[in-house]
Amino acid sequence: MSTIRKMLLPDRNGSHSLSTAFCARSGSGKTTLLTHLVGEARRDEAFKETRFVYVSIKQEHLFGEDVPVVSTIEDLLKAMQKQPIVTFYPKDAGYYEEDIDDIIESMFSISDDVDGGIVLMIDDANVLKGFDSRGQPSPSVKKLTIAGRSKGIRGVYILHRISNLPRLMNGNLSGMVLLSISSMDLPYSKKITGIELDSLLPELVDYKWAYVDLITENIHRYNPVEAKNP
Ligand SMILES: Nc1ncnc2c1ncn2[C@@H]1O[C@H](COP(=O)(O)OP(=O)(O)OP(=O)(O)O)[C@@H](O)[C@H]1O
Ligand SMILES: [Mg+2]
Repeated sequence: MSTIRKMLLPDRNGSHSLSTAFCARSGSGKTTLLTHLVGEARRDEAFKETRFVYVSIKQEHLFGEDVPVVSTIEDLLKAMQKQPIVTFYPKDAGYYEEDIDDIIESMFSISDDVDGGIVLMIDDANVLKGFDSRGQPSPSVKKLTIAGRSKGIRGVYILHRISNLPRLMNGNLSGMVLLSISSMDLPYSKKITGIELDSLLPELVDYKWAYVDLITENIHRYNPVEAKNP
């Protein structure tokens, strides 16, 4: 199976269709890489009917002008009927967590009608409860992580540190996409994934990246993707 399918394809029965986490330092190229990979997925026939929802608290996206931007659930659901990719910006960053919960619940309510499945990409997930030192993820985030696969919904969490991943992710991720990471993350990474990343870390410079397959425990290394201007 290609890396792009392992990483993003919602497949109700697939061994690789648990959540994916993108972890890398601030400014290391996560949003750029994700945008490129969604473009690649769109060119793969396996994703023909797949719907991509991208949520950005920073109100920025790199998908280009053809991708609609919405700020309410009603507009999101409407846009998804026609559009393969839809971006959601919270109206008020103070309610980001509530918005994410509402989006997750509405994806669960429509998932049976979306044949190609849904990829729900939450950028800057480290602002969410449970993705830092505060408490546990919300019940909706837990539901996405644990029950998303069976409903054809793939959560993609984009965050700064492997050590920001909630404990819950242990056993519920099928892969990690890494760009430049901090050596401080290595012990926690080993604990949560069982994989030693010490030798990989020095290679992840200048926007080089890797896909860590947590099912087969293989690491795939890649050269930088081409950066686009916003
Ligand atoms: N593959 C690349 N080649 C060249 N420049 C890149 C590449 N990827 C990202 N950049 C540049 O690095 C900067 C940061 O990229 P990007 O916003 O994707 O990072 P990020 O990890 O999402 O940042 P943040 O943590 O702030 O969200 C941008 O100016 C972008 O153009
Ligand atoms: Mg970003």
